Amino acid sequence: MLRYQAFVLIIVPLFLVPTNAIRSVPETPSTIELHGSNNVEYIEAPEYRNGPQCGGSVIHVAMTLDFNYLRGSVAAIHSILKHTSCPENLYFHFIASGSKSPKPEDLTRIIKTIFPSLGFMVYSFDDSLVTHLISNSIREALDDPLNYARTYLADILDPSVTRVIYLDSDIIVVDDIQKLWSVSLSGSTAIGAPVYCHANFTKYFTDRFWSDPGLSSVFAGKKPCYFNTGVMVMDLVKWREEDFRGRIEKWMEVQKEERIYELGSLPPFLLVFGGDVAGIDHRWNQHGLGGNNRVHSCRSLHPGPISLLHWSGKGKPWARLDAGDPCPVDELWSPYDLYKHSKQQLR
Ligand SMILES: *[C@@H]1O[C@H](CO)[C@@H](O)[C@H](O)[C@H]1NC(C)=O
Repeated sequence: MLRYQAFVLIIVPLFLVPTNAIRSVPETPSTIELHGSNNVEYIEAPEYRNGPQCGGSVIHVAMTLDFNYLRGSVAAIHSILKHTSCPENLYFHFIASGSKSPKPEDLTRIIKTIFPSLGFMVYSFDDSLVTHLISNSIREALDDPLNYARTYLADILDPSVTRVIYLDSDIIVVDDIQKLWSVSLSGSTAIGAPVYCHANFTKYFTDRFWSDPGLSSVFAGKKPCYFNTGVMVMDLVKWREEDFRGRIEKWMEVQKEERIYELGSLPPFLLVFGGDVAGIDHRWNQHGLGGNNRVHSCRSLHPGPISLLHWSGKGKPWARLDAGDPCPVDELWSPYDLYKHSKQQLR
């Protein structure tokens, strides 16, 4: 279902596509032409305006943009705009692969058509930064270089951006993102995320890792807990000053030499930040809604208030809805779906 194309290793220079223009409102639905026959039809999102109490401070949000997950990203953006009181204060930083189709400039056009007044920029991610560091994991989808783009945000984004919220594409936000933006990252902590200290941390690394004190001493004197890297508040000043990108890359190099973990981009984050994460309320990442690797395994919501739903795992709500076999939680996703064909099919 969500298989990735083989990657062409072309070094693409990082370039920025400025997108400040605000378009007049086109008639909905708009058809976005992509490679001639391959049209993508999305409904234009309603226009969201700031309330009177909004100041001018910008909230920076970073996400990746990939054709396979585009529908998820569009729903995620839609949900954020819908629930925040100051939507015009948002600025989105979209990281797209420079070597895959559609190209960053095509993605810019698509996003502009769906969200005409959205402040955003699409950045071209140079896959070759990371392809030589990726070792094959147990799930092919986890090996996409774009999964590692979050490691490079401090370098990709302009130095004037000092904090960013990183979000996966398979999420929806049902609360005001300003609350997540204003969490405190005190002390030396460079990231904030919900942490799960009841999860068995041991299982994220191999016996080989735990039996080598030279490696496992990285956690000496710390109390590392699992966290999900799909929702993170990142202090980019600390990232730049303390070279967290380089530290993550070092662990990826170790992994190439000796297998110290099985999953993809998560374990290096656990190695570098485990025990040093500012804990954010669990309501900001109800993860695992995609179910496990079994076909059609539905998860239910954990009790308690929810601000963000995350379909991490193999199943994605748009795929299950289109297959006519959704999980109950997928019905919470569909109000944010702007993909036109699916709505017609569902009705
Ligand atoms: C945690 O996971 C490891 C490795 O899978 C296992 O050996 C250990 O028994 C588990 N510990 C608990 C408390 O479940």
